Amino acid sequence: MKAVEVKNLTKSYKQKLKTVQALKGVSFDIKKGEICGFLGPNGAGKSTTLKIIMDFIKADSGSVVINGISSKDVRSRMHIGFMAENPSYIDSLTGKELLIFSATMHRIEKDKALKRADELLDALDLKKSANKKLRNYSKGMIQRIGFAASLIIEPKILILDEPMSGLDPIGRYKFKNMIRETQHQGCSIFFSSHIISDIEDICDRVIIINKGSIIKVVDEHMMKTFSLYGYDIIVSKNAQLDGFKYESLKNGLKSIRIDKSRLEETIIKLKGNGVDIIAVEPIKKDLEKLFVEIVGQNEN
Ligand SMILES: Nc1ncnc2c1ncn2[C@@H]1O[C@H](COP(=O)(O)OP(=O)(O)OP(=O)(O)O)[C@@H](O)[C@H]1O
Ligand SMILES: [Mg+2]
Repeated sequence: MKAVEVKNLTKSYKQKLKTVQALKGVSFDIKKGEICGFLGPNGAGKSTTLKIIMDFIKADSGSVVINGISSKDVRSRMHIGFMAENPSYIDSLTGKELLIFSATMHRIEKDKALKRADELLDALDLKKSANKKLRNYSKGMIQRIGFAASLIIEPKILILDEPMSGLDPIGRYKFKNMIRETQHQGCSIFFSSHIISDIEDICDRVIIINKGSIIKVVDEHMMKTFSLYGYDIIVSKNAQLDGFKYESLKNGLKSIRIDKSRLEETIIKLKGNGVDIIAVEPIKKDLEKLFVEIVGQNEN
């Protein structure tokens, strides 16, 4: 059974003078226990899809099944921790009160909720602000307390809309670690983001959406190929390079591109021939290049 099955969603919005087709038949699955990224340019339809999964808005057609239960049944969302793109919490609550409120809504016992709230406030560096009202929180603090509120309910599925926007580098680092920890506890995670490097860092799979249609699913296998696949070895311009394919660089240096398995053997060979090695640069095939390429093709 999949964590979430999305089938053929369509959704249009009426704007002043026109109707916008925000989703044009969107289908995908979220597998149990995976971290899956949802990537797409502004206006692609990410938030619309997530709001339909949460039943905050209705699709024109299509269906969503969560853990085998139709999303029309409120019980399907009992174990989903959700974080909205621009959350608007009751700002007279303190951070800690928001966490207890979320836990209570999910019928978590008071003692357990209090203990978990303290742990989460600590883990997300909000301990000192626990009793401050949310109206005095910064954007990054709101993101962090929202994340804590989605975690306190002991979710089986986490659905997060741009969870890292507004976080500073340390906040992003901690967030990513907590996402990984949550996955290890058996949770399935689906989150949208614009920050390709963050998606690349932690996602097992990535679903790419553009103009209301899924244009690519980057699977586990493809994600692995985004890691290191070779090196450029930069050598001095006087190097004699019999037996090597090289490229001359602007500054007169030369570059040899090799597969990652040939690093040691190549360095030994070059050294043996008295070649000065100036630098060894790892080469990565990255998600950003793929994203720009396929969104570009889709625009045409
Ligand atoms: N409430 C609304 N009323 C009218 N149009 C809307 C509404 N919400 C979204 N849209 C339109 O639907 C399309 C998809 O919007 P959506 O918010 O789902 O995109 P997104 O991928 O989340 O974008 P972003 O990355 O900017 O958050 C856009 O063209 C947007 O203008
Ligand atoms: Mg959005």
